[in-house]
Amino acid sequence: MFSSSFSRRKFLEFIGAATATHAVAQVHTKRQPRSKKMMPVALPASRADDLLLTSGLQFDVIAKYGDRINASGDTFGFNADFTSFMPLSLTEAFLFVNHEYIHSLLVCGLPFGAKLTKEAAEKMLSVVGCSILKIRRKDTQSPWRLDVDDPLNRRISGLTPIPLVAPRAVAGKLTVMGTINNCSGGQTPWRTFLTCEENFDWIWGSEDTQELPAADARPFYPDAKSEHYGWVVEVDPFTGNARKLTSLGRFAHEGARVCEARDGRPVVYMGDDTADQCIYKFIGDTPGSLVSGTLYVADTQAGRWLALDRDKNPKLKEAFVDQLDLLINTRKAAKLVGGTPHDRPEGIDIHPVTGAVVISLTNNKSRKNLYGSLIKIQEHDGDHAALTFQVSTLLMGGSGSGIACPDNIRFDQRGNLWVTTDMSDAAMRSEPYREFGNNSLFFVPIDGPQAGKPIRVASAPCDAELTGPCFSGDGRTLFLAVQHPGEGTTDLQNPTSHWPDGGKELPKPAVVALHGELLDSWTAIS
Ligand code: FEO
Ligand code: CA
Ligand code: CA
Ligand code: CA
Repeated sequence: MFSSSFSRRKFLEFIGAATATHAVAQVHTKRQPRSKKMMPVALPASRADDLLLTSGLQFDVIAKYGDRINASGDTFGFNADFTSFMPLSLTEAFLFVNHEYIHSLLVCGLPFGAKLTKEAAEKMLSVVGCSILKIRRKDTQSPWRLDVDDPLNRRISGLTPIPLVAPRAVAGKLTVMGTINNCSGGQTPWRTFLTCEENFDWIWGSEDTQELPAADARPFYPDAKSEHYGWVVEVDPFTGNARKLTSLGRFAHEGARVCEARDGRPVVYMGDDTADQCIYKFIGDTPGSLVSGTLYVADTQAGRWLALDRDKNPKLKEAFVDQLDLLINTRKAAKLVGGTPHDRPEGIDIHPVTGAVVISLTNNKSRKNLYGSLIKIQEHDGDHAALTFQVSTLLMGGSGSGIACPDNIRFDQRGNLWVTTDMSDAAMRSEPYREFGNNSLFFVPIDGPQAGKPIRVASAPCDAELTGPCFSGDGRTLFLAVQHPGEGTTDLQNPTSHWPDGGKELPKPAVVALHGELLDSWTAIS
């Protein structure tokens, strides 16, 4: 179990902590001498209906569901998930936010599973997608705030027309209606954001799913087809232009972690968040673009990336009419070439110094993996374009680590690891998950006496999940979404959470900014 000192040591070895600490120290030799780091105090597992933070952290709400975000009257969407910070100056930045799915009672006033009306379907589609926000601070010591009057603030929703980047129409369309189930995402070096369509079958169904969609909007939008969803969408925050990149394949895209190969080509690591689905990597043909390139699936048994290229594989040539047909049916292609099934690959991040690719595997009940784990991929020769790698387990979920069902993960710029958990609201209330309390944010320091030990530093309100951790450029602010508080609500008079407004108010998902002495001490870089 993770509590043993051996496992902590193993964690630090795996992550390359000694190397990382040394390298970070070298990078920051010009900094002012740092005062002694604050010792983070672990919060106990809690059932409180509040965003509890350990000492040395405070939060401000940046935006919550329904808040006006611009002069046109657009409003902040539901169930915020991924957040991504793009600095424009020391006091101005884009904050990109995904809105994954809805709670039909809290958003449309309809009990879960009720037949949608046209009005409810339109409302549902209008509150998912993403928000492009401008945030500002008065000076480098002040907190970040949403600038509601910035003309670049906008929503892209389930109703926004979006072109597909594809050589032919997909299910009859080259421009499709909207983006939905936007879970996690990514940011490119050329200053665009990626928003990933995950459980699209929830609204539009899927050829992989025999059941009807949970929220069936199909009767009202007969032109929308499931093949129009399940893609990675690239968004230019300066213009608001969006496009669906078919090159990155179609599956339940959790996120898209972008980095650069040694030769400058872009590389994207991705997970298909469904039990027994795969881990993928895309290598772009040219720097600065994801439009063309090769998609690979991981064979983690042999440590190889297997190309999903129809022209180079007779089995694939036989199974698909063209490369786009293969990409539409990525899962089938991955199985044909021998991609390894995994226990719901979700969060992916890359250590800023060692280049280790860390992937959270949330859980897999059918394989009796209840608590999940983090695995590490170390590419051959440290090059992200390599086609062979070594894989190892970095951290096991369970009582030993205190982490159950890891989802989003983030390395800060000093190489410490931050992990959020995603137990479903029903699971949290029952065995064997009760001991873990509400979903939480864990900090795993890379050095000091607590090195390698997960420390619970934030506990979510009732039924919520903390998602999308990302840092400001100076490392002094940690943005985080509080997703689906009160998800278990079945009666609007008696919601299971009142966060964030308290009293008798209905719960609202929100994005918050954490700051304080703990971050100044551990993650600040300037
Ligand atoms: Fe939307 Fe895989 O979490
Ligand atoms: Ca997720
Ligand atoms: Ca999840
Ligand atoms: Ca979730």
